[in-house]
Amino acid sequence: MADAGIVNRVAELRQELHYHNHRYYVLDDPIISDQDYDGMLQELRRIENENPELTRPDSPTHRIGGDPADGFEQVEHRHTMLSLGNVFDDETLDAWYRRVKNLLDDADFTMTCELKIDGLAVSLVYQDGILTQGATRGNGFVGENVTHNLKTIRSIPLNLRGEPPPYLEVRGEVYMPVDSFRRLNEERADRGEPLFANPRNSGAGTIRQLDPKVTASRNMQIWVYSLNDAGESGYPDQQWETLQWLKELGFRINPENRLCHTLEEVKDYYREWVEKRHDLPYEVDGVVVKVNPFNFQGSLGVVGREPRWATAYKFPAERAVTRLLEIGINVGRTGSLNPYAILEPVIVSGATVQHASLHNEEDIRRKDIRVGDWVTVERAGDVIPQVVGPILDRRTGDEVEFSMPLACPECGTGVVKPEGEAMHRCPNASCPAQFFELLKHFVSRGAMDMDGLGEQWCRILIDQGFVSTVADLYYLEKDRLLELERMGDRLATKIMDNIEASKTRPLTRVLFALGVTHVGAEVADLLTQRFASVEQLAQASQEDLTEIPGIGPKIAESIYDYFQVEDNLAVIEKLRQAGVKLHHEIEIVQPGDLPWHGLSFVVTGTLEGMTRREAEGKIKALGGSATSSVTRKTAYLVAGESPGSKLETANRLGTPILSEADFLQLLESPGDVMNDAAVEAQV
Ligand code: IVH
Repeated sequence: MADAGIVNRVAELRQELHYHNHRYYVLDDPIISDQDYDGMLQELRRIENENPELTRPDSPTHRIGGDPADGFEQVEHRHTMLSLGNVFDDETLDAWYRRVKNLLDDADFTMTCELKIDGLAVSLVYQDGILTQGATRGNGFVGENVTHNLKTIRSIPLNLRGEPPPYLEVRGEVYMPVDSFRRLNEERADRGEPLFANPRNSGAGTIRQLDPKVTASRNMQIWVYSLNDAGESGYPDQQWETLQWLKELGFRINPENRLCHTLEEVKDYYREWVEKRHDLPYEVDGVVVKVNPFNFQGSLGVVGREPRWATAYKFPAERAVTRLLEIGINVGRTGSLNPYAILEPVIVSGATVQHASLHNEEDIRRKDIRVGDWVTVERAGDVIPQVVGPILDRRTGDEVEFSMPLACPECGTGVVKPEGEAMHRCPNASCPAQFFELLKHFVSRGAMDMDGLGEQWCRILIDQGFVSTVADLYYLEKDRLLELERMGDRLATKIMDNIEASKTRPLTRVLFALGVTHVGAEVADLLTQRFASVEQLAQASQEDLTEIPGIGPKIAESIYDYFQVEDNLAVIEKLRQAGVKLHHEIEIVQPGDLPWHGLSFVVTGTLEGMTRREAEGKIKALGGSATSSVTRKTAYLVAGESPGSKLETANRLGTPILSEADFLQLLESPGDVMNDAAVEAQV
């Protein structure tokens, strides 16, 4: 048991962290440095690790996200999640208002105007002030339990301030800020992954990620807009006051909301935001108008799924028609070829648009977009404009179909299109468009680790013509480095020493450093178990590669393509001549020789000493495979804490079950595993 001092320290750290988190993420007004915050968080994490009995679900350390879930559990909403009727102009808004006024026997009432956030509706349940469940809307009755993912969103309080009631449910809109969306799409383009059309789609995709770490990495946000249950507690009796109350409890309430006394004020609010909507760092697609007093809301009621007491005044669609003059190609950081439309300039909701995204070749074909077409252009919110499609009536017959160039427009290398991927890419690692990023990666800590060569120096070395391939680093001369502005003797010595030291990095680091698409640190590790040198790997066929457990056809194709490019082979040769070690001394193990070859494992529940992923990694390293469901073919079920239904299935099928301790023992002496015959006999 932890002593009282530690218990108090934990309580103190949690309170401090919750407080500063609220200041930073909800109020946008931090009063301590990020460093101090991280220091406290680290201290708390360390104490919790040493004293597991002190962990609690609402601890600030729980924001990082646990292991990926197997799928999402369904949750029934206590109260149906409603949707909203729409109005599109002042006339239809007037009609909505007249009807409400009539139904209320001509009573006077105030209204709230709230920005309609274009994101994903979620419900949050707090019990005794602690977040216990977060769910998506689903079909309104049943949604998905995404608590783990929502917990990673910093502006969602894990525990409430003030005096929260014993049971509380609120709803709000989770969204991805526009700049995070842009960044995410840039990264996806670089990796050759399909792009998200708008922040709403990427936000929804992010919340439904099985791995909470992904959600945590994407900077999601929330605006809370309603209280849906507070039990019997005496909460306010109007929407406006309720929003203020929710703010005091620690929820993030949009400061642009406004209390309006007349329909004219509602229209003013709407007109104001039609103009200003693009100044916001997030997307809004209209204004939600709500009758303010809850007793009036009650008497107006709900028709179907839409309340009579609220409506969404949608912003006008932002489209325009113009000529598509040409299709350009932009080469991304890792070589993806991104087509874009060059347009006759046109004004779409206040901004001049000359370029629009075209995603990829398949998309252009599917929409039948041709050079010379009149096209509809849309600004999906305020983001990169998109070409919606051609106006077929306006075709003259002179339009030209588009096809991707066969050679990279930057360096002329033949373009490849890996099977199953949407993007074409340039496989030449020395292509100028890619080289800066590659160089940064090559020298980085997890790769060749050339301390001293930061991003700025990489840029300078390229701009000064000192390096045009990664191999050139090994031919730098100290005297020439010293010619560079702001380069001193100390730094130059350090850089030269570190370059020299990098020549003997382990093979796995070298493979990772080369920056082959899809070859991360993990894949590099797998490759070194099968190949003794870069040269050997370069000779491998795609079939050889896919034989390695953990390497699928996509990775195999990318590795194979890399070694087909002359320039890449030349770089490797130059590295070799410089004395970089490109081989290692290991006994290459054939998969058939590994003790667990052919055995299939399922890992379930929580293990104490390792994550599920780590356990699966150990299984694979011994030649076994790790699958997610128990079948008659399963050799062993490894069951941690709270194993759930897989344990039942295993019991039913008679699958041998290993506790964590059994599993550790088997890892120690992997040869003790039951052989295939024994497994067969058991089935
Ligand atoms: S109120 C009746 N308020 O719009 C209650 N909804 O089309 C319905 N939304 O599913 C929700 N901002 O995802 C409300 N300030 C706001 C909102 C808002 C965005 C979304 C919400 C809802 C959809 C309705």
